[in-house]
Amino acid sequence: MDLIQNIIARAKENLQRIVLPEGLEERTLRAADMLLRDKVAHLILIGNPDQIKAKADELKLSHVAEATLLDPKNHEKKEEYKELLLKLRQAKGLTPEKAAVLVEDPLYLGCLMIKNGDADGEIAGAQNATGDVLRPALQIIKTMPGISCVSGTFLMFLQDKYFGQNGLLMFADCAVLPNPTAEQLAQIAVSTGKSARAIAAMEPRIAMLSFSTKGSAQHEMVDKVVEATRIAKEMAPDMQIDGELQADAAIIPNVAALKAPDSFVAGKANVLVFPSLEVGNICYKLVQRLGHAEAVGPILQGMAAPVNDLSRGCSVEDIYKMVAITANQAIASK
Ligand code: ACO
Repeated sequence: MDLIQNIIARAKENLQRIVLPEGLEERTLRAADMLLRDKVAHLILIGNPDQIKAKADELKLSHVAEATLLDPKNHEKKEEYKELLLKLRQAKGLTPEKAAVLVEDPLYLGCLMIKNGDADGEIAGAQNATGDVLRPALQIIKTMPGISCVSGTFLMFLQDKYFGQNGLLMFADCAVLPNPTAEQLAQIAVSTGKSARAIAAMEPRIAMLSFSTKGSAQHEMVDKVVEATRIAKEMAPDMQIDGELQADAAIIPNVAALKAPDSFVAGKANVLVFPSLEVGNICYKLVQRLGHAEAVGPILQGMAAPVNDLSRGCSVEDIYKMVAITANQAIASK
């Protein structure tokens, strides 16, 4: 887990402004206190300031006082953000009345702050479902140049250091796109390659996974992965990308030697791209639970500025790490 220490050190060197829309949530407050104590980021907690202060006092969290507290119902930029939201969403049918309601929603407010240049990244999801965290980010912050689809990757720290990069594999998409097209799958691969460089300081070797290796099976689902591999290679000629590969051919050298002997990626992949969200989400949970891997994420990628989603079962430590990761993404995106 030295990687996480490096990520925290990088965040400390270049402090980013990270919004925590769930400012009254206990784990979030505890993580905020530790992050402020360790000077990992500038934090903006959204919520009623009196209630946040009272809760911090009750929990004996003295560093929370160093955060900026933003009351969603009453702050000096409320009108400015409402106008910004209207400008961005009027063409999609947003009315001034609805904008006045949404601008008080902490999840919308956090994204509006980022869009307006008042914050660098956001973390939420300890209380809210994935879709509710993602929707405002997709509507307001949108994607980075050259990418039209946001996806979610996990850093999987395996017990067995033999696999991936000294035991680190990145999995994607495990969080966002239920059924990607070939074009979207290619974007997921390239985004994850960029995340490997930005977050893990790792040169990606990307395997496009399927139930077939180099033509061993014929099916339209295989065709999609073959096409995605072709597009991804075109999009990122500087990245090592290969497919279609079965999971064993991707990560086990002996199998790779038999099934894909000419591949630069097979047998030594450190990024695994799954053909659908179903596969990616199920696989990361099985590797985490049955393989006792530590899963850090989902780290959302492809967005113009970083917004990350927590699991509602997250720990204080998870929030701490995700803030540091979000700060690293913000640094890389500038
Ligand atoms: N990338 C970029 N933009 C997107 C994406 C995407 N992946 N998905 C949707 N959008 C955009 C749309 O184009 C639309 O933009 P527009 O309004 O400007 O035209 C906007 O986002 C809203 O899109 P909708 O399709 O109306 O939004 P929807 O309500 O369907 O939500 C969401 C999109 C939230 C990403 C949905 O696909 C979803 O819920 N995905 C699954 C999330 C999930 O439950 N994951 C598993 C749990 S996470 C875990 O276990 C780690």
